[in-house]
Amino acid sequence: MKILKEIETRRAKRALATTPIQQEVLLRLAEAAHMTPSSLNSQPWRMITVKDPAVLDKLKETLSPGNYWAKNAPAITAFVTNSAWGLTLGEVSYTPFELGMAAMAYQIQAVAEGLYVHPIAGYNAQAAKEVLGIRAEDTLQTLIVLGYPGEKNGLNEKHLESESSKRDRKNLEEVASFDRWTELLVPKSKK
Ligand SMILES: Cc1cc2nc3c(=O)[nH]c(=O)nc-3n(C[C@H](O)[C@H](O)[C@H](O)COP(=O)(O)O)c2cc1C
Repeated sequence: MKILKEIETRRAKRALATTPIQQEVLLRLAEAAHMTPSSLNSQPWRMITVKDPAVLDKLKETLSPGNYWAKNAPAITAFVTNSAWGLTLGEVSYTPFELGMAAMAYQIQAVAEGLYVHPIAGYNAQAAKEVLGIRAEDTLQTLIVLGYPGEKNGLNEKHLESESSKRDRKNLEEVASFDRWTELLVPKSKK
């Protein structure tokens, strides 16, 4: 058994084509997210997929300058949550965790569909919420940028390099242990 191909090959790529993504493909991504588990089956996530060029252009205006590469994206999906929609036990709200699981299923399905799929936090959340009509009390957790692989020539030098870079990760022992906590799990910067 190997690591699943979709997990192994997924990278946060930026060289997107403007080619439209069929509605049935976009729906399958949402269906994949819809199948994920949640406490009390609360399903505390909402997805708004933007593909109407007029709305998409407005949404792109809210992106941070560093996310210039997303200008080619034919679709961007907003993931929205609210801790009131899900389970909170003591200090722990499970809603961001459950949104994360849904967003990962969404990404795995997107990779299987041959798409680049790139979550971002670099945008003006308030402005993006206004563009999408998201209520003030709800949280826009992330935007997921979608597109088929495209030309790299619009990317800056740093992003060009990262497009074909090796995956950069901590050592596995720094994030995973067996049977008990180990000192290796303490982030180096916090020692
Ligand atoms: C919540 C979240 C926010 C991110 N925000 C941005 C962003 O604003 N711009 C960007 O270019 N990449 C963004 N990324 C992508 C990460 O930089 C990328 O996933 C990380 O460097 C690891 O690279 P890999 O996904 O190719 O393995 C974000 C990823 C996550 C999960």
